[in-house]
Amino acid sequence: METPRDDQDLAGLGLHPDSVGMLEGLVTTRAIRRYADEPVPTHVLRDIMFAATRAPSGSNRQPFRFLVLTDGEKAREAKRLVAEGARKVWGHKRGNDGYDDGSGADLSSPKARMARTMQEYVDNLERVPALVLGCLVRYRDPNPNEGASVYPAVQNVLLAARALGYGGVLTGFHAFVDKELKQLLGIPPEVFIAASITLGRPQGSHGPVRRVPMGELVYGDTWGDAAGFAVDPPGTRHTSRI
Ligand SMILES: Cc1cc2nc3c(=O)[nH]c(=O)nc-3n(C[C@H](O)[C@H](O)[C@H](O)COP(=O)(O)O)c2cc1C
Repeated sequence: METPRDDQDLAGLGLHPDSVGMLEGLVTTRAIRRYADEPVPTHVLRDIMFAATRAPSGSNRQPFRFLVLTDGEKAREAKRLVAEGARKVWGHKRGNDGYDDGSGADLSSPKARMARTMQEYVDNLERVPALVLGCLVRYRDPNPNEGASVYPAVQNVLLAARALGYGGVLTGFHAFVDKELKQLLGIPPEVFIAASITLGRPQGSHGPVRRVPMGELVYGDTWGDAAGFAVDPPGTRHTSRI
């Protein structure tokens, strides 16, 4: 059931007011893989996708397109296909990357917790409240820069979801069922499906994302030398790279 629209207006744009400031939202948009069993209301989808379609692209060509899959017959079938792809990918990754070996054998380790989260995610993927396919309409041969005109829009989906109390993850699970999805959804052959994004109301909560220390990623005028200002705010917690 749809919740009534809030009368408040965001900056006169007719959007819902966001629940966090922009910078706070940017640094707290985590990958959310567990969702409450409730649909994403269409007015929320409207605002999220409006934000997505405001993204920049080369020469403002706006080559991004989105399919928003919720609970129609084809949407359910598409979710099932992507879920099938996800289980294949995760099954291989779990074995190949040794998620159950070494520290992963300790069920309380971060590795084992990640494995549990991923397993639960892929096991329930066909039931995600919304699945958004972010696509790029190609106007020339595939080239290494083309993603630059679709991934900003994809990230806007996640940021706008965060702003409105929702969450999601960018995944590559569609790649394993690309042909079947295109056939099912009428996606032309020249279109590149760039991302499958699951969305819903988070079961857990967002919080500060963790990365390596900023100085390892932001240099001054010499490659590898941290910029003088590249100092994490006090209390920043880190995580390692794989
Ligand atoms: C290009 C790209 C591909 C990704 N593919 C997947 C995927 O297939 N499955 C998945 O569960 N998460 C996927 N992710 C999400 C990442 O795992 C996640 O962004 C990363 O672990 C950081 O998570 P955090 O922001 O919660 O710290 C992908 C992210 C990116 C940017």
